[in-house]
Amino acid sequence: MKKDLLKLLDLSKEEIIEILDTADQMKYDLKNGRPHNVLQGKTLAMIFSKNSTRTRVSFETGMYQLGGHALFLSSSHSQVGRGEPVEDTARVLSRYCDGIMIRTFDQEEVEKLAEYASIPVINGLTDFCHPCQVLADLMTMRERMTVLEGAKLCYIGDGNNMANSLIVGGLKMGMDVSVACPEGYDPDPEVLDFAETVTDAKFELCRDPKEAAKGANCIVTDVWASMGQEGEAEKRKIAFKGYCVDDDLMALAAKDCMVQHCLPAHRGEEITAEVFEAHADEIFDEAENRLHAQKAVMALLMK
Ligand code: CP
Ligand code: NVA
Repeated sequence: MKKDLLKLLDLSKEEIIEILDTADQMKYDLKNGRPHNVLQGKTLAMIFSKNSTRTRVSFETGMYQLGGHALFLSSSHSQVGRGEPVEDTARVLSRYCDGIMIRTFDQEEVEKLAEYASIPVINGLTDFCHPCQVLADLMTMRERMTVLEGAKLCYIGDGNNMANSLIVGGLKMGMDVSVACPEGYDPDPEVLDFAETVTDAKFELCRDPKEAAKGANCIVTDVWASMGQEGEAEKRKIAFKGYCVDDDLMALAAKDCMVQHCLPAHRGEEITAEVFEAHADEIFDEAENRLHAQKAVMALLMK
């Protein structure tokens, strides 16, 4: 395993499998009351420059379950928000803590933090990617499908951090990936370049959600306006009209097609209330699996 988890592009298929296998074990241990306090006495600093419910609670709870402690550092209540250079924050936290989780805007900030930190850095979401979320998504898909290789993963909506990580994670795991985005909202060029290099799985970028959904084994969507894009919400509602995961779209997918949503969800925009509720078990398993997947990441990086 590498020192940090900055983006799924950095991980091999074997490393992703190692995380997923460890996460399955962590989940089993927790449910069966088997101690797994492998990070006894260790601390994780959690820097948040954006809001969070799941990421904060799952990392903090996960660290406690592993025998360690997590510290919440909101950027607005620490020197991070007053412009202390990331190079300095990295070196200071490295003197106190055993790992850093960061949620911020620029991927470059996370990469620089990792470069200057002597301890592992975990990306808890940037504008570019959301690797911890997609590890939890892959874990949830594997729980239900058993084999990911050859299954079809479809993403409908904005070519955002979720789309970028799903494309990379899905293709690395041998899934065929189809994405439907409106023009002007495509995934990141670096991710599309990566997709072109993949030879053992298919990748398709379409404009028509119906084409993308055909025969899918899992349909994933996400909000049309991500954190930091609130000012574009109205413009985006117009651009994304027709990119809603509804019953008609689900009818084109494979039988027993799963639905995943990283949450929070906007019912009536990217997903209908009907589809959301019909797949609530899968969606909340996905939310739960953030805990197990991140415990696996922390255990593998920080032990
Ligand atoms: N899915 C996710 O990352 O949720 P939070 O924004 O609540 O952390
Ligand atoms: N794309 C969303 C994901 C939230 C978990 C955002 O960045 O706001």
